[in-house]
Amino acid sequence: MEPLTFPMTRSHPFDPPDAIQAMRTERPIARVRYPDGKLGWLVTRRETVRTVLADTRFSARQELRSNPFSPAKEPPPATPGSFIGMDAPEHTRYRRLLTGQFTVRRMRKLTEHIEQIAGQRLDHMAQAGPTVDLVREYAMAIPAQVICELLGVPQGHREQFERQAAELNKPGTSMESLLKALGEITGHLAELIEAKRAEPADDLLSGLITEGTDLTQEELTNIAFLLLGAGFDTTANVLSLGALALMLDPAQIPVLTDPQTADNAVEELLRYLPVVPGTIRSALEDVELEGELVRAGESVMVSLPAANRDPERFPEGDRLDLTRPATGHIAFGHGIHQCLGQQLARVELRAALPALFRRFPGLRLAVPPEQVKLREHTAIYGVDELPVSW
Ligand code: HEM
Repeated sequence: MEPLTFPMTRSHPFDPPDAIQAMRTERPIARVRYPDGKLGWLVTRRETVRTVLADTRFSARQELRSNPFSPAKEPPPATPGSFIGMDAPEHTRYRRLLTGQFTVRRMRKLTEHIEQIAGQRLDHMAQAGPTVDLVREYAMAIPAQVICELLGVPQGHREQFERQAAELNKPGTSMESLLKALGEITGHLAELIEAKRAEPADDLLSGLITEGTDLTQEELTNIAFLLLGAGFDTTANVLSLGALALMLDPAQIPVLTDPQTADNAVEELLRYLPVVPGTIRSALEDVELEGELVRAGESVMVSLPAANRDPERFPEGDRLDLTRPATGHIAFGHGIHQCLGQQLARVELRAALPALFRRFPGLRLAVPPEQVKLREHTAIYGVDELPVSW
């Protein structure tokens, strides 16, 4: 059988690409050819995805992985601090330091603040509307402010910081603007770290600096950059795609706005929305998987959206049903790299999504659905502009 290839197209905005939908009903693992020309594998069955992500014979090291979204042939190793692209024990050291910073107290403080931020953004929308771009005014604005709050970016610098972060995350940005934004933002992060060293405050970066760690300036900058990259675009696209899904299926909105059922509704949106198309691991030795031999050096892409629709766990998984028990999804991954910010992401989504539909019960698309431009072939799937009205 011919290997599957990237890019893959999709015919339904909320479903995984067609090739993945088709293979998922036929076989749990398939041959793929990555854009760098190398052959590897794609896995869709939930149990097999979890097996790959929990097995230390599969490495997350960045320099070993083929990338479905980039033709780059020889990716560099992860920079110091970018632990998402490392294995144990390097990963363990950073992860432990970071976990220590996501304290219950800090999360509680942030929760109160997120509700306030969402309220302010809604007031702003009400003034700017009744037609606004929901992505810019709400879905991006909230995670951007939350990351600033978490890292301790001072108030006066936030607007600039948010603008640069948005530039970095915007698909289609030219290489020149991308490098410019990257240079500016890492420069800013380095300055921010210097300032925290001189005058520590009650934020994550200060915590990392003061609590007996010996992280270098380079490591701290890269950690801050990783948090920004991992926590901003992901949450923003769950917010905007989630709002889109509900505007197209308004009968389900009351399940989201009812405080009794809201938390589960958010879990179901996380399960259903294919925002993180997958993650990659590479085999350190030959491994047998679902009757196939994955050879040492081959990359395996695990499709999180396909796993989240596996009928063994989620009957009729292609259907959004905010009332279904949605626990057990793996939208935040699995194993040692499971999302560090998932608690924070949940707090953001639980505060922001119900509040949006409570404030604007008649929220609707301001353009025909077929005119909504969805991102394609990107590491984070979603929507870059969503004109809404009420
Ligand atoms: C709805 C929003 C989010 C989704 C769907 C999401 C999803 C994921 C997934 C699937 C992974 C695993 C990647 C892998 O195994 O290669 C991951 C890792 C990670 N996420 Fe998230 N994430 C979200 C929000 C956040 C937020 C808000 C933060 C931080 C403030 C964050 C920080 C991270 C970090 C640091 C990692 C790497 C963890 C490690 O390597 O140990 N994420 N996320």
